[in-house]
Amino acid sequence: MAKKKPNKQAKAKAAGKKAAKKPARKVVKLAAKKANGNGKTNGVPKPSNKPYGQAGKALTGVRILDFTHVQSGPTCTQLLAWMGADCIKVERPGVGDITRGQLVDVKGADSLYFTMLNHNKRSITIDSKHPQGMRVLNALIKTCDVLVENFAPGALDRMGLTWDYIHKLNPRMIVASVKGFGPGPYEDCKVYENVAQCAGGAASTTGFREGPPLVTGAQIGDSGTGLHLALGIVSALYQRIRTGRGQKVLVAMQDGVLNLCRVKLRDQQRIEKGPLTEYSQYGEGVPFGVAVPRAGNDSGGGQPGWILKCKGWENDPDAYIYFITQAPVWQEICDVIGEPTWKTDPEYATPKARLPKLKAIFARIEDWTKTMTKFEVMEICNKHDIPVGPILSMKEIAEEKSLRDTGTVVEVDHPTRGKYLSVGNPIKMSDSISEVKRSPLLGEHTDEILTDVLGFKANEVAEIKNSGALSAPKKEEKAA
Ligand code: COA
Repeated sequence: MAKKKPNKQAKAKAAGKKAAKKPARKVVKLAAKKANGNGKTNGVPKPSNKPYGQAGKALTGVRILDFTHVQSGPTCTQLLAWMGADCIKVERPGVGDITRGQLVDVKGADSLYFTMLNHNKRSITIDSKHPQGMRVLNALIKTCDVLVENFAPGALDRMGLTWDYIHKLNPRMIVASVKGFGPGPYEDCKVYENVAQCAGGAASTTGFREGPPLVTGAQIGDSGTGLHLALGIVSALYQRIRTGRGQKVLVAMQDGVLNLCRVKLRDQQRIEKGPLTEYSQYGEGVPFGVAVPRAGNDSGGGQPGWILKCKGWENDPDAYIYFITQAPVWQEICDVIGEPTWKTDPEYATPKARLPKLKAIFARIEDWTKTMTKFEVMEICNKHDIPVGPILSMKEIAEEKSLRDTGTVVEVDHPTRGKYLSVGNPIKMSDSISEVKRSPLLGEHTDEILTDVLGFKANEVAEIKNSGALSAPKKEEKAA
């Protein structure tokens, strides 16, 4: 590469002039390039003539060495697989991803925990600590574009798969990792979902002021981090088009959670300048402390909101609705709940006047919502553009027709467990349409990966298999 340095640059260097700006100008020039002789524009081919949805998928041609387990890593690789990447999941012989056997609901079948996080992947079993296992891994490293892992800190290195080792075998390889914490005092810690929620600021800001910190049902530590990692990988793939080389991509779960709690760090800085007037605590006259408090069901934005009871709340734990008193529709809200005088009464007419009275205002709105079901409230409010959200139970979501129609909730068939429901790909693309394929059985694709993907000959496959590197250790070995 160095030999090909343009003459001008070499001359400038020899003359002691700074050539540092050259590459930047070169990039601008490239970007401005018009269609060239190959019919390409700015490096992008001419628009395909194929019908939308039939020109391959977004990540067709990308091959992933998926060394992930439990939830955070598998969420990431599942997304990439839905986008068309060939995702080869490497699992420990005999056991596989630990979640296969966790929270089992159908005896002898892979759990929903596993099946719902590993769609569209292929599975190969490899003992990475066996020399023949390493032989297979080496071959996989050479043929894959991305290695994704979420082992405990140091585990990949202990397998011998350091960045230097991987990069030497395949300089184009992107190595993407989830860890609990980034570099710092906690970097060696093992981390699960709720640890990340606590360390990332979610728990201290979730729940009611009078109660303890709460974790949320949304898996923002695991699935949220997997999402972040997927974006990092796709960006690294894009950058590799220009640089030709891979890079490390790291997302720490603490960082991922904090990114999702961004508005709370906003409030931390505001609280130092005065009370957070949109928090109901302000209206209740309770002084603020030094840190952002838990705000119950207060809205995190500038439009006050709260969860209100609806008809049937006494027996149905989900008979509630989230109600937002958005300023532009205040007049409509007053009419709907039967308080027309609030439209002009200076005590209620402006958002500022309402802030200290939010609790009482929501109590009055609740008198109205309690007379109807959450769906009836929604129907009336929608007509007036009043933003409300019914609290949907998982049962209601599972049965919701529109979610089935869009493929967000899908029914998948599985050879050992039968039909089950899953969340499909929530990202909809018009030219990269996802089909949800069942998760692989443990080691289901071992043979085809060894031969079709890695090109091992029959005698080599036999040698690798006979070594025991791909099968579960015998009982007596296990005990030893
Ligand atoms: N062949 C041989 N050994 C294998 C293997 C394979 N195919 N796959 C994994 N192993 C080994 C690892 O090398 C490691 O061995 P070592 O500790 O002797 O080096 C061992 O299995 C256990 O791996 P580890 O990642 O430590 O699993 P764990 O069950 O003890 O911990 C987590 C689980 C999730 C706590 C941990 O992996 C972690 O902190 N990950 C990063 C953060 C994260 O993703 N957390 C969220 C998970 S949803």
